[in-house]
Amino acid sequence: MNIPEHIAIIMDGNGRWAKKRGLPRTAGHIAGAKTIKSIVLHCNKIGVKVLTLYAFSTENWNRPEDEVNGLMKLIKNYLKNMNSYLKYNVRIRFFGDISVFSQDMQDRMKQIEQEFDKNTGMIFGIAINYGGRNEIKNAMKQIACKVKNNEIKLEDIDEQTVESNLYTKGLPNVDLLIRPSGEYRISNFLIWQSAYAEFYFMENILWPEFKPKHVDIAIEEYNKRNRTYGSVK
Ligand code: FPP
Repeated sequence: MNIPEHIAIIMDGNGRWAKKRGLPRTAGHIAGAKTIKSIVLHCNKIGVKVLTLYAFSTENWNRPEDEVNGLMKLIKNYLKNMNSYLKYNVRIRFFGDISVFSQDMQDRMKQIEQEFDKNTGMIFGIAINYGGRNEIKNAMKQIACKVKNNEIKLEDIDEQTVESNLYTKGLPNVDLLIRPSGEYRISNFLIWQSAYAEFYFMENILWPEFKPKHVDIAIEEYNKRNRTYGSVK
């Protein structure tokens, strides 16, 4: 079995999970957060190099205030307790514009990245205040700045230049993008990195019910795909 180097997951369906049970949407996010650990540990165990989860998008600020507050509280709490991951040898990276968060939260994210850096296993990427267009726009600004300061020449800009200005700098492109809960969209997630990803949309499963076996099912399907990267095989 060929294990994808980089798996990205859109943790969709928390709201519907809660609605089905007559609970507030935030209860769905709490249940969704509980799903995360088993998926991270499973991916680490089977040899995935990078697992990126979409925790909060640049567009999620448009949700009702109490849901945004609930999500922020949940994420903050999650960060507080992340040391429980240390023993699993995973590394952690936050992808997104974290400058909008409180200084406390930013410091905690940087501290986590540093503390986990001594580990050697899978990189667990958490996309937070992340938007693919925003990421590419920021990369363009950084590159423009370097051109202006004569650090690089306009004619030397290539795809590698763009890649090295993304949050995911130096990491493999997304091989497999999984989205449960029956929506067939990419929702501004890792759009540059997913240019040649295989997409696996799952109909009958909401994120709070998502289990390691669903990763295995997606990988099985991934192994049936013929990846040609625009060529022929
Ligand atoms: C999408 O489901 C889910 C989100 C916008 C948030 C995902 C966040 C978590 C699972 C928990 C927080 C993350 C961490 C790292 C602690 P939806 O609300 O759009 O579901 P719906 O489509 O059924 O309404």
